Amino acid sequence: MNILSRLKTSKLFPMKIFSIKFLLFLFVTTFYLPVNAQPDGEQLFKTNCAVCHKIGAKLVGPDLMGVNDRHSEEWLLKFIKSSQTVIKSGDEAAVKLFNENFKLVMPDQPTLSNEDIKAVLSYIAAFSVEQDQAATEIQKEDKLAGMSENFLQEEIKEGTRLFLGLKSPEKGGESCVNCHYTTIPDSLNWNPSAADLSKYSLSKTDAELLKSINNPSSGKLKEVHQNYNLSEDEFTSIKAYLIDFGKKGLKEVRPLPKRLLTFLIFGFLIVLMLIDLIWTHKIKYKVIHLAVILLAIVFISKIIIEEAYAVAYATGYEPDQPIKFSHKVHAGQNRIDCQYCHSSAETSKTAGIPSANVCLNCHKAVKTGPNSGSFEIAKIYDAIENKKPIEWVKVHNLPDHVFFSHAQHVNAGKISCDQCHGQVEEMHVVKQVSELSMGWCLECHKNTKINFTNNAYYSQMFEQLHKDLKSGKIDSVTESQVGGIDCQKCHY
Ligand code: HEC
Ligand code: HEC
Ligand code: HEC
Ligand code: HEC
Ligand code: HEC
Ligand code: HEC
Ligand code: HEC
Repeated sequence: MNILSRLKTSKLFPMKIFSIKFLLFLFVTTFYLPVNAQPDGEQLFKTNCAVCHKIGAKLVGPDLMGVNDRHSEEWLLKFIKSSQTVIKSGDEAAVKLFNENFKLVMPDQPTLSNEDIKAVLSYIAAFSVEQDQAATEIQKEDKLAGMSENFLQEEIKEGTRLFLGLKSPEKGGESCVNCHYTTIPDSLNWNPSAADLSKYSLSKTDAELLKSINNPSSGKLKEVHQNYNLSEDEFTSIKAYLIDFGKKGLKEVRPLPKRLLTFLIFGFLIVLMLIDLIWTHKIKYKVIHLAVILLAIVFISKIIIEEAYAVAYATGYEPDQPIKFSHKVHAGQNRIDCQYCHSSAETSKTAGIPSANVCLNCHKAVKTGPNSGSFEIAKIYDAIENKKPIEWVKVHNLPDHVFFSHAQHVNAGKISCDQCHGQVEEMHVVKQVSELSMGWCLECHKNTKINFTNNAYYSQMFEQLHKDLKSGKIDSVTESQVGGIDCQKCHY
């Protein structure tokens, strides 16, 4: 593809470079530079270079991060003053740069003195990304946006075909989407998603990525990526697709639920009966029409009520988590006690979610899992290295006006976790099992007998209940009798 059409199709190289506005801008900035005794590197950079260069990301020209380490000061002074002179002199590094950058001409800077350029260079050297954590975040997003725009639409399209299996790689191999899913799954899929890979590919070099596809060294990766021999072009396209995918994220597909289908069928039956009743008269007895219509109405109402209920109380809520942490693997297969991780359940209001350091207690040693390989566990190290807490999505949520304490139930009430949370040790992904409605709380308080007589907490209270128990009038006390249905016990 020739350079001009490449420029035209790529959004990042606006034709503005050659526009009147831009030339005017160059003209103005060249002649109106403030005459300063002490050149201000940052200011000079912003007025003269920032239209084409960034520090920490590629713009029109190369990323200037670390440029002082790539060339000698002498070379830089010459190149920045007049890049074309250096290129035409046949300087190897300069020619290479020129070719790599689609032979874009960096304009000469005749008005900048050596001191000015040195000030710019030391500004670039001092500009460190760590200095400003917030800036890195923005840059990461810019990088994502910038990179995907850097790829040509053609490449992204080709990558889409390869990734989704509309086209096979030349040297064969399964399509990536068979494992690396692109839509939100309805049950746990242990493979990294396309969105995961998108993020991952930003932190790795092309060589590293290509190696883990074509020549995986060991473990799970070797097992799953057996038969690939992607060409460099194929790889670039797939990478283009992945980077582009990162901007969109996983798509949600909602399969037509069975309930909707039943809903429609019953609706259809009602219409059919009405038509027959009024016009066609195929069925002799009106009782049948009536019976079918009534039945259909009952079913439809039931579906509507149940759906509304599920929406209101979020039972079955089962969000995707940032790491594929499985309770089945940990609490089930490996029999790790719930309170090893939820250590405050006995002593405080909340059960607590373990920090990444708790994971590390074991995962310092356990580096791979049988289902997910090393990809998911690596996210723990990543979180610790980057000091970024893992952002678990909350599953259970009581409204703010309700007071609930784990300690009261787990410690004092001796209620086991599964009475409220179900068989968590059998779930790969935690799901909300109980309604968490007021009725649910009250139901249990009314029906649960508490340890009343041998409890110091109650010995000084509820005299009447103690008397009734002694006289045999009642044989047990439920939570509701000791205040478990008083509004202020649960409401602030
Ligand atoms: C109109 C766009 C433009 C402007 C303005 C511009 N550059 Fe460049 N610069 C480029 C391009 C394009 C290249 C790549 C080499 C080539 O194509 O000639 C480059 C290359 C460089 C390089 C070599 C980078 C490397 O990775 O080795 C340095 C250093 C540099 N520019 C510094 C500057 C400085 C300092 C300024 C401001 C005084 C500046 N540039 C202004 C477009 C520009
Ligand atoms: C049979 C299932 C399967 C297929 C097909 C597959 N992958 Fe993977 N891929 C995996 C699994 C599982 C992992 C995580 C393994 C691990 O980290 O131990 C992975 C990891 C990766 C990684 C991260 C590598 C790393 O260093 O951790 C990349 C990149 C990747 N796959 C790209 C691709 C591409 C591109 C294709 C298609 C050409 C593809 N995969 C096809 C299952 C598959
Ligand atoms: C190895 C550590 C570990 C063990 C053991 C463990 N959990 Fe968890 N648990 C977590 C992590 C991490 C989360 C947050 C991610 C998630 O929701 O899957 C969590 C989430 C939960 C949640 C959902 C919290 C919310 O967001 O509302 C419940 C309920 C839960 N665990 C109950 C249990 C029960 C019951 C057991 C014992 C059978 C148990 N856990 C054992 C680590 C653990
Ligand atoms: C009496 C019912 C009940 C019992 C028993 C119970 N939970 Fe909970 N749990 C809840 C409710 C209700 C919430 C939601 C609390 C909120 O949103 O404020 C919750 C939230 C959680 C959470 C997430 C928020 C938090 O508190 O950190 C975890 C984790 C959790 N429970 C773990 C456990 C574990 C582990 C046990 C057993 C040791 C247990 N729960 C026993 C009702 C219960
Ligand atoms: C008490 C030890 C322990 C703790 C704490 C622990 N894990 Fe694990 N984890 C294990 C064991 C054991 C395995 C299974 C390894 C195997 O079977 O080869 C495992 C496996 C995994 C796997 C891979 C599952 C698979 O089947 O591929 C992931 C992901 C994982 N853990 C994440 C976490 C996270 C996140 C935390 C912290 C919230 C955590 N673990 C805390 C012991 C632990
Ligand atoms: C599975 C049964 C069960 C469920 C469900 C349950 N509780 Fe309880 N609750 C108990 C028991 C038993 C006690 C008494 C503990 C004791 O012996 O002190 C208790 C005690 C309490 C207390 C202390 C009352 C007092 O007398 O001081 C509060 C507050 C409370 N529960 C709130 C809630 C809320 C809010 C919910 C719903 C989100 C809820 N409970 C759901 C069984 C349950
Ligand atoms: C055992 C604990 C408990 C007791 C006792 C309790 N509530 Fe509630 N209440 C809840 C919970 C949990 C919710 C939130 C669940 C929901 O949104 O339905 C709630 C919600 C409510 C709401 C808001 C309903 C809504 O739709 O947002 C009102 C109003 C309310 N309660 C009034 C009362 C009154 C009045 C009493 C005393 C007769 C009372 N509650 C006693 C647990 C309790």
